[in-house]
Amino acid sequence: MSSPARTDLGRALCIITGSSRGFGRAIAREMSRLVKPGSALVLTARSVDDLRSLQAELAESEAGRAGVVVVCVVADVSQKEGLESIVRASQDAFSEDMDHVLLVNNAASLGDVSRYAKSFSDMAEVDSYLSLNVSSSLCLTASVLQTFPQRPGQRRTVINITSLCALQPFRSWVLYCTSKAAREMMFRVLAEEEPDLRVLSYSPGPLDTAMQTLARSRTADPSIRKSFSDMFAQGQLLTCEASCAKLMKLLLEDNYTTGAHIDIYDV
Ligand SMILES: NC(=O)c1ccc[n+]([C@@H]2O[C@H](COP(=O)([O-])OP(=O)(O)OC[C@H]3O[C@@H](n4cnc5c(N)ncnc54)[C@H](OP(=O)(O)O)[C@@H]3O)[C@@H](O)[C@H]2O)c1
Repeated sequence: MSSPARTDLGRALCIITGSSRGFGRAIAREMSRLVKPGSALVLTARSVDDLRSLQAELAESEAGRAGVVVVCVVADVSQKEGLESIVRASQDAFSEDMDHVLLVNNAASLGDVSRYAKSFSDMAEVDSYLSLNVSSSLCLTASVLQTFPQRPGQRRTVINITSLCALQPFRSWVLYCTSKAAREMMFRVLAEEEPDLRVLSYSPGPLDTAMQTLARSRTADPSIRKSFSDMFAQGQLLTCEASCAKLMKLLLEDNYTTGAHIDIYDV
């Protein structure tokens, strides 16, 4: 029998990439409510104003008043210096009495979906995409695990925000599908290697975000583009908040198989 779900995420250090908007912003808000006083959130993205407005909002919230510290790191995760500054800020925000380290690898881009696979002959272009969408999450995760090694009484959780595109090919989305599939395998290997770590690949469903706007306006393949436009027109997109609630449920129940891909519709 599984143990009852927790009601909080503990006294936690939460590092959330891509938290300036969309799903990452919703995760930051929700985690700030679910952590205990004395926790810290490290929010990171490139858009300084969006990060600062979220920081101010959380400072005014119940979490802020209860002493949850929110740190913003303006960083490009596709750059070595960006990852270094996230790790440094996380180290500074950490305190010895924290009992949970959580890393959410959420930042991503759709890439150029206006072209088909046969047009991607420029290696520098592909490398640059993969560096943001694949390398950054491996290198950041590895750096966080090195910085916060397993200690008695402390939990560590690594979340990969994935997609149906990790499992299914979408015409004209070669970069995105490739990156989501690669990331998932990366986290499956990590789960095999680190049995003390909790690893989750969460697929949040079709969300009403900037990424969806790009999907329905730029996708080259007409049938894929139409399916995204129809989903929008028929009100089938999910709010980030609704999807995030399911992710939090998974984290609080904490009985998923480490390394698993879990889709919102299965929660
Ligand atoms: N939307 C969907 O329907 C959907 C479906 C399945 C999975 N997902 C996944 O959910 C996650 C969030 O997507 P979303 O829809 O919220 O996307 P979004 O609205 O486009 O937000 C992407 C986030 O990533 C950040 N980011 C992008 N490039 C970055 C860089 N070089 N360095 C640092 N941060 C960067 C952005 O911040 P800055 O621009 O400020 O840097 C932003 O905060 C992604 O992993 C996506 O693949 C989305």
